[in-house]
Amino acid sequence: MVYDDEVLQNLCATLGVAAYQGQALSQLLARVDLKGKRVLEVGGSNLPRELIFDLFDVKEWVSIDIIAEGSYQLLQQSTHYQREGIEPLNKASSLIGTKDYLILDGAIEFAGGLPTGYFDVILSITSFEHILALPSALSQMKRLVEPAGVIYTYHGPIWSSYCGHHIWVDSEINFNVPDAIPEFGHLLYSPPEMFDLLRKTFGDRRAEQAVLQIYHQPRVNRLFYEDYLYYFKLAGFSEIEAAPYARREVQTDLQARLQTLHPGYRVFDAYGMSAFLR
Ligand SMILES: C[S@@+](CC[C@H](N)C(=O)[O-])C[C@H]1O[C@@H](n2cnc3c(N)ncnc32)[C@H](O)[C@@H]1O
Repeated sequence: MVYDDEVLQNLCATLGVAAYQGQALSQLLARVDLKGKRVLEVGGSNLPRELIFDLFDVKEWVSIDIIAEGSYQLLQQSTHYQREGIEPLNKASSLIGTKDYLILDGAIEFAGGLPTGYFDVILSITSFEHILALPSALSQMKRLVEPAGVIYTYHGPIWSSYCGHHIWVDSEINFNVPDAIPEFGHLLYSPPEMFDLLRKTFGDRRAEQAVLQIYHQPRVNRLFYEDYLYYFKLAGFSEIEAAPYARREVQTDLQARLQTLHPGYRVFDAYGMSAFLR
């Protein structure tokens, strides 16, 4: 396929696909032709069929995603979900191959009902940082992709980045608001230190919510950049091609502090990671 990034980005903008999704797809399509392929998306189910079938010319698209009732995707993209439908993952074995776009609600670790080696490509956008049982998830993905196929992930913010807590309390306290939580605060402060700091600006109740999300709730896996590489290696992939994206320089004294507090880790400048696994 002659790949035209401008066409992709324009179509993404027209269809309301997020810019980071466009960037991830752009990186994948620069390397992998999806024409006529069977693709599995892990941790995502909101890409429109105009993109998947009209532009990429994919043969079959399956999404495995934990779709919470009332989630922002369901609310914001109700037409898409009404059009494609959502099926429970435990029905996967009887549904696979019956539709060109199959959305399965469930966790990738429990995808045992899908046939081994069925997919040419597995794609995951901003989801690996949310997958808690990463070894089981990787093992399923490795089983589901055909031997010559590829798994591609683009995920962040990862825990080891300046906003890796990834929290969303409200419109003022979230990972996209600069300095709502001090940069790297989640790696530098204890829960009570953080609570004490945040309550001065946000009050006790919202500070507590932030602390719960930062340190205690299983919304993200809290893996450092190097941890992903370690898990990829343990999963037994023969090729692991990983790179940081959206890097941001960390001042020398802060880097030294982070390394002291988190021995063995060095990569704190990567907002996210992209990787091709074979
Ligand atoms: C930040 S959202 C990204 C969604 C979509 N890829 C996008 O970019 O809009 C992360 C998604 O991963 C899903 N997820 C988390 N753990 C998962 C798992 N173990 N298996 C499948 N999906 C999972 C969440 O339910 C959520 O829909």
